[in-house]
Amino acid sequence: MKQQTSKELLSQIHAYIESLPYSHDPKGLYDPIEYVLGLGGKRLRPVLMLLAYNLFKEDVETIFSQAAAIETYHNFTLLHDDLMDKADMRRGKPTVHKKWDENTAILSGDAMLILSYQFMMQGCPQACMKQVMEVFSRTALEVCDGQQWDMEFELREDVTVEEYMEMIRLKTSVLLAGALKIGAILGGASEKDAQLLYDFGIKAGLAFQLQDDYLDVYGDPKVFGKNIGGDILCNKKTFMLITALEKADGETRACLQNWLKAEHYEPAQKIEAVTTIYNKVGVRDICRDKIDEYYKESVCLLNEVGVDASYKKNLADFVLGLMNRNL
Ligand code: IPE
Ligand code: IPE
Ligand code: MG
Ligand code: MG
Ligand code: MG
Repeated sequence: MKQQTSKELLSQIHAYIESLPYSHDPKGLYDPIEYVLGLGGKRLRPVLMLLAYNLFKEDVETIFSQAAAIETYHNFTLLHDDLMDKADMRRGKPTVHKKWDENTAILSGDAMLILSYQFMMQGCPQACMKQVMEVFSRTALEVCDGQQWDMEFELREDVTVEEYMEMIRLKTSVLLAGALKIGAILGGASEKDAQLLYDFGIKAGLAFQLQDDYLDVYGDPKVFGKNIGGDILCNKKTFMLITALEKADGETRACLQNWLKAEHYEPAQKIEAVTTIYNKVGVRDICRDKIDEYYKESVCLLNEVGVDASYKKNLADFVLGLMNRNL
């Protein structure tokens, strides 16, 4: 069976997404969709779906519509997430609510959610349709659950690491896991293998969001494509902040708490002060270890999937690359 690398799959799904017709009226609704999808990004979720499918079948082009669906859904979440997180930059360019306005980000986002359902159904074999739509709908709703926890946690100071892990499982992991599971279902995988791939995606997704939070502090803005320190400014209860609150002693802890309460400040100053505390307390290394831990757990689950080890190499390599990414 022909196995394709993540790079080969990426270029094919990229071309497919580029070819989607978005240039119709009203332009105010569709131009932002074309804009955000045209900015690219890593196309991680469709590539995962195609890699999972390719473990069982080789005619990957038959599920390009489903792969484009998961990417369209992801991009919908980004439009609303950037509004909720007051983020001005995405993929090195102004976010939709900055380039247009807030109403545009809401309605173009809504339209993308609907389009993602259309794409998911388009050409989906009848035999898999119900199962695919069930996985997709449950996943889509869980992402909203995660986003709500993420927002509520901004206002709390007693968020535990356990609560944080559950929040990122919902807001991020389930979409990676769902992409893999849908690819497996469409590829005709056994229920056991589809579930193992889902569980693999959950663990890899936890590592992926930990890494995203890490890069939000330690990344290079030119490469990362988002403003550095955004999470610090929103008081996001990331693993690093929770760990810093746990580990910091008297004076440092009080200083951190003051920054969390501060109302009038220079953004750059808060980012610098909180980052200095992170460095002092050593959360940078603790976070890296945690990323590694979840990555290793994910690989163990992938190893259990009942196909030839050589088939799984592309998926394993792809996820390893994500753990060492800087964008
Ligand atoms: C951003 O996702 C949102 C998170 C779950 C961290 P990606 O990092 O996959 O963003 P793009 O699609 O590559 O821009
Ligand atoms: C990602 O959370 C989760 C979703 C977009 C659903 P973040 O808020 O950390 O994502 P970025 O950093 O803005 O991409
Ligand atoms: Mg965000
Ligand atoms: Mg967010
Ligand atoms: Mg982030």
